[in-house]
Amino acid sequence: MISNKKILITGGAGFIGSHLVEALVGLGNEVVVLDNLLRGNKIVSDVFKKITFIKADVNDFNQVLEASIGCDMIFHFAAILGVDIVADNPMETMETEVIGTQNVVRAALQNNISKIIYASTSGVYGHNALEQTVTEEILVDPTTSYAMAKRYNEIYLASLQEEKGIDCICLRFFNVYGPRQDSRMVVPRFIEQAKAGRSITVYGSGKQTRDFTYIDDTIKATIKLASNVTGFEIFNVANELESDISTLAEKIRVFTESKSEITLINAPAKRYDYEVGRRVGSSDKLMRFTGFKPTTSLDEGIKSILEYAR
Ligand SMILES: NC(=O)c1ccc[n+]([C@@H]2O[C@H](COP(=O)([O-])OP(=O)(O)OC[C@H]3O[C@@H](n4cnc5c(N)ncnc54)[C@H](O)[C@@H]3O)[C@@H](O)[C@H]2O)c1
Repeated sequence: MISNKKILITGGAGFIGSHLVEALVGLGNEVVVLDNLLRGNKIVSDVFKKITFIKADVNDFNQVLEASIGCDMIFHFAAILGVDIVADNPMETMETEVIGTQNVVRAALQNNISKIIYASTSGVYGHNALEQTVTEEILVDPTTSYAMAKRYNEIYLASLQEEKGIDCICLRFFNVYGPRQDSRMVVPRFIEQAKAGRSITVYGSGKQTRDFTYIDDTIKATIKLASNVTGFEIFNVANELESDISTLAEKIRVFTESKSEITLINAPAKRYDYEVGRRVGSSDKLMRFTGFKPTTSLDEGIKSILEYAR
């Protein structure tokens, strides 16, 4: 486990970042967060008091350099995401990914930091996820600016590791969900609609499937990988459970005791992601390297979110 380390987390005020901050502080680490607060601050106040927070843009090299002084490792999680936001802002999305990651790398080199853990995405698989439960070895086929930039960074970090010896671990997250996620994403959006008694709106046929990975599992996997793995590696962080979106909507309606209707609507044209009919990840590699794989079922995860909100 990681303890007594100084750690920089970019994007640490976001959904996954804020849970990671909490876990790493709990393990006795000194945590620095660099975030421009694009999505507000999701770090709970008790934890916020125990960290150093720097409101800055990851595209600003000097800020990243200063934030990372004395750090042992960097978790690079700052990103622009959300299907609509990415479709409307492809250049900003790529710029934050590409420039931001270069800044993290340059700062790591200058400050002699030996490990970078990078948040990539299952989106890199694109349509190639259709026929199988995807392993890290299958050909990638990114279809959005966001997924293309994530894949570019994976390749960039592989060459960094080879040339400079910095350990680089890339995590391909599969639809992470949990408390404090905002309603850009499907699970909180359905919960919000169900609680308000509005229609739960499902895009397309509702038969497209995703692999929903609960936040606690995601954080456990992230910390175990950061502790155990060296060199360059890519890992799926996935639950291996395939759920279609209509079933997700129905579960949320039942667990919230809502009278909302579930309505199928046409996906907006720019939502290319919905064209990917199936995306389920294999966590075999994660298991091989850490002895851990996510186990929280969708039912348990949804109930935990509702419990947290109460
Ligand atoms: N949530 C998921 O299901 C999922 C899936 C795959 C990959 N990821 C990746 O995991 C990481 C965290 O995602 P999340 O769900 O917590 O998203 P999030 O939007 O909640 O968090 C991203 C954080 O990055 C910050 N940020 C954005 N642009 C910035 C900039 N230019 N400078 C500094 N900070 C900036 C935002 O303010 C936010 O706090 C991202 O890299 C994302 O691409 C998430």
